[in-house]
Amino acid sequence: MHFNPNSPIGVFDSGVGGLTVVRALMERLPFESIQYFGDTARVPYGVKSVETIAHYTTQIAQYLLEREVKLLIIACNTMASVSAQVVRDLSPVPVLDVIEAGALSALAATETRRIGVIGTPTTINSNAYARAIHEVEPDARVVSQACALFVPLVEEGWLDHPVTRLTAQEYLKPVLAEKVDTLVLGCTHYPLLKPLLADVAGPQTTLVDSAEAMAERTAALLTDLDLHTPSRTPADYHFHVTDVPLRFQTIGERFLGRSLNNVHVVKW
Ligand code: DGL
Repeated sequence: MHFNPNSPIGVFDSGVGGLTVVRALMERLPFESIQYFGDTARVPYGVKSVETIAHYTTQIAQYLLEREVKLLIIACNTMASVSAQVVRDLSPVPVLDVIEAGALSALAATETRRIGVIGTPTTINSNAYARAIHEVEPDARVVSQACALFVPLVEEGWLDHPVTRLTAQEYLKPVLAEKVDTLVLGCTHYPLLKPLLADVAGPQTTLVDSAEAMAERTAALLTDLDLHTPSRTPADYHFHVTDVPLRFQTIGERFLGRSLNNVHVVKW
């Protein structure tokens, strides 16, 4: 099948968090245009049922496919953990997801094959990271921990707050007790807590940022499929949200580290 290299990349998430992936893509692939979808009306997904998440994910993937994207990126760990196959089954274009990218990066980083994974309750309960890691390295020891409070703390902007530090110490205690040498930040929001988590986890633990891993995987796939845009004009970025665009813009600018324009409200 032939895809158009000039088409944008479609990236989606349950809300604003996937902008950490967009930011990594902007840095790694500055000429690639992006159509981003954030389901701000229905976030958070991390505590919803698998059926509901699959239904929402299908709607979003179809919306982006109608915008003729050349590639779909599931930036949300929760959606990727329970609905990646649903998207692959319906998509005529290639699909990448953060779980795959994060698992492979963790395997590349670990020396002891003892890997910690943190994420939302749905992501951790799905066991998707452990499965992806064990597919490649059946002997790896994977220690998973759901960190339900991190998403609201990040949305509140408490990136280096004593409450966040205490919460992180509590969540990471059982993971670090297992002497992991690598910790996967298995949620879109966690890269924003990277300095704090690095501090709590200590210098002996390598943190795997799934956003950076995703940008690397995307660059490699575009090369393999000969799908890099030939354009050298500034890329075009569009952001589609289902509710409250002003809040998306304010928090989004924090995630992106730059101003955010072209925000469209989708009414379903
Ligand atoms: N985007 C979600 C994830 O990466 C976090 C926010 C949510 O719970 O919807 O798991």
